[in-house]
Amino acid sequence: TKRVRVHHLREAKERGEKLTMLTAYDAVTARIFDEAGVDLLLVGDSIGNTMLGHETTLPVTVDELIPPARAVVRGAQRALVVVDLPFGSYEAGPAQALATAVRVMKETGAAAVKFEGGRRVAAQVRALTDAGIPVVGHLGYTPQSEHLLGGPRVQGRGDAAAERLSEDAMAIAEAGAVAIVLEMIPAPIAARITELVAVPTIGIGAGAECDGQVLVWVDMAGMGDWSPRFAKRFGEVGAALRSAASAYVDEVRAGSFPDADHSFQQ
Ligand code: KIV
Ligand code: NA
Repeated sequence: TKRVRVHHLREAKERGEKLTMLTAYDAVTARIFDEAGVDLLLVGDSIGNTMLGHETTLPVTVDELIPPARAVVRGAQRALVVVDLPFGSYEAGPAQALATAVRVMKETGAAAVKFEGGRRVAAQVRALTDAGIPVVGHLGYTPQSEHLLGGPRVQGRGDAAAERLSEDAMAIAEAGAVAIVLEMIPAPIAARITELVAVPTIGIGAGAECDGQVLVWVDMAGMGDWSPRFAKRFGEVGAALRSAASAYVDEVRAGSFPDADHSFQQ
């Protein structure tokens, strides 16, 4: 199967074919999602909340994201791998963003990076694009700004806020972004932005009119006890894993595992 490349993203939008994206943080899940046909794998800084036990994405470092990103690249045959630039690794300006992105591209083998913000990071989008690094944007609810935004809340409600979001989307598209993630935006606003920009929008809590969808895999698979309202649980993998582990515990305690089939004879 042919690898998904950046030019396929815009072609998909032009043909009206929906793009699919999931997060992945290791080679095992990357392989499973790749085999399922997921187009883009995001090594998200959501690893902070989902895997590392932090309350937010803010503590995640570039050093922490690189090993999982390498693993996801190894696990993916077809999907285009995107790596988040963590909080504090790009905001200072184009030089800082370029240094971080070059390191991520060199050390992981990923095909693109993603970072949060609109006009305030348009110069960073331009600098990376000029250096040959594809950038995915991220607008709406941006978790790295959660203390400023007051936690996970829908963004872009009201004419003025919607207008600001549209201008941010146009600015980063103009600066060279190859796709834009839209998070927690009213569906009609996301639809309007999707019409406005030539590059694909990838929604999370942003309605069905986006050019694609992204979910955090643990939410999508029902790995935890709770998933956000916009993240449909397509499975109950957490419950399945808990019941496998408790069956293992029971059989070991009862002495019924390992049986002859799972032991070596002389
Ligand atoms: O880190 C992440 O998982 C993300 C997605 C929610 C888009 O940025
Ligand atoms: Na992220």
